[in-house]
This record gives sequence, C-alpha cells and structure tokens, in this order.
Amino acid sequence: MYPNLEGKVVVITGAGTGLGRAMAERFGAEKAKVVINYFKEDEDVQSIIETIEKAGGSGSAIQGDVTKEEDIKRMIAHAVNTFGSLDIMVNNAGIENEVPSEDLTLEDWNKVISTNLTGQFLGCREAIDYMLENKIKGSIINMSSVHQEIPWPHFVHYAASKGGVKLMTETLALEFAPHGIRVNCIAPGAIDTPINAEKFDDPELKKGVVELIPMGYIGKPEEIAACAVWLASSEASYVTGLTLFADGGMTQYPGFQAGKG
Ligand code: BGC
Repeated sequence: MYPNLEGKVVVITGAGTGLGRAMAERFGAEKAKVVINYFKEDEDVQSIIETIEKAGGSGSAIQGDVTKEEDIKRMIAHAVNTFGSLDIMVNNAGIENEVPSEDLTLEDWNKVISTNLTGQFLGCREAIDYMLENKIKGSIINMSSVHQEIPWPHFVHYAASKGGVKLMTETLALEFAPHGIRVNCIAPGAIDTPINAEKFDDPELKKGVVELIPMGYIGKPEEIAACAVWLASSEASYVTGLTLFADGGMTQYPGFQAGKG
C-alpha cells in the first residue's frame, strides 16, 4: 500500500472495463479520489464506485470520448469540481482490431490512432496544463503495450499508436521534469481483459499466446494496477520517462529460451 496516495485525485480514462477498471479499484483501495471515465453507456460504473467506496476511497463517473478535446476538458473539470484538484492522470482508453495491412481502411487507421495516441496526448496536455497552472507536481501514466517494441502484423495501426505513446511519454517527461511533473508509461503484455476475451476463450488461440510468455500465464489486470499505483506514488518520485514492462517476459525474446539461437 502507498499511504501518500490517500486523498489524491486521479482521472482514469476508459475505466469502465478492463485495465482501467482494475486501476480505478486499486486507486480506490489506496483511498484515492477516482474519476472514472467510461465510454459505453452499458458499462457498470456504479459497481466500481461501490467497490472504491467500500475500500475507503471516493469515486465519481463521467462519460466521455477521449478523441474529443471538449470531453477531455470536461473530465479534468469534473475532477476539479468534484474532488478539488488533479494529481494523477491515467491515459488508459484504447482499442484494437485485427486487419491485414493491405485491407486496412483509412477510417480504421484513424480510429485507432485517434483513440490510442491522440486521445492520450489530449489527456497529457490538459492534465499538464492544469498541473502547471496550479503548481502541482503531478504524475501522468500512459498506457502503452509490448507492441511499442514488438512489431505486430495485422495490427499495424495499434503498433504504430503504441510506438507513438512511447516517444510521446519520453518527450513530455523531458519537457516537464523541471516542473516536477513525472510522465511514465506502462507496457502490458497479454492480460486477461474483455479486449482479449474472444482470443482467450479459444483454447488454441490462447495456447499460441501463452507460448510467447516466458512466465507461462496470461497476466491479471491487478498485476497492471499494481504497477500504476507504484508509478503514481511518492515511492517512484525520481522515476520519469520510464516504460514499465509488465509482460511476464514477453519482450525478452522468448524464441531464444532453452539455449536456442
Ligand atoms: C494487446 C493484446 C495482445 C498483447 C500481446 C496487447 O497490447 O492488447 O491483445 O494479446 O498485447 O500481443
């Protein structure tokens, strides 16, 4: 547990489901004040708020689309109006879809880039602007992927967006380090979340993914949430521009295991 997170105000985009939800609940367990941005009206945000409140934190939900500048502004304003500040911004909302690159439409390319990269930029920009104006030494966490490093055929738009998140994170870390604003990213591997449900419900497909993971299992959302609270806490006070890989070893060239090569 990280006692200095108690009472801190955190905005998490795409927190109605998956990794965002797990992070929202973990920040709640740290007794933080959590703004849960969700996208689809059918996401059960009320139960997330209940979990957070039971743990001693506070939660408040706001619908919004990260590709829309005015929605991001509304999320930050909601945090300030409801909880009085903004200390931590987690740019998590992301999408992916499989398409061979020769068939990838401009529409699909734009959709993924504008959610995964432009949406994260807007979240960074608005949070940083607020933190500068209010002299807050805040923490920004962007959600990348192992595919900021590993090329991924049929997911060229996704891989390009995550490669962009990496260099955006490093550039912003450098730019705002003098103000004490830390900017880091987490790069998850294969995690058991709804975005992957179809793939992991199919035993053959799941086996193919597990073979790429030296630790031999699909990660749990809580294992990513644990990275987020550490990065946001004062325990990581000297850490900025980092990509924290949480991937069971996926980026360590699993093909070379057992002395191959
Ligand atoms: C993707 C997953 C994929 C994993 C490993 C993640 O970024 O969201 O769908 O299984 O990378 O390839």
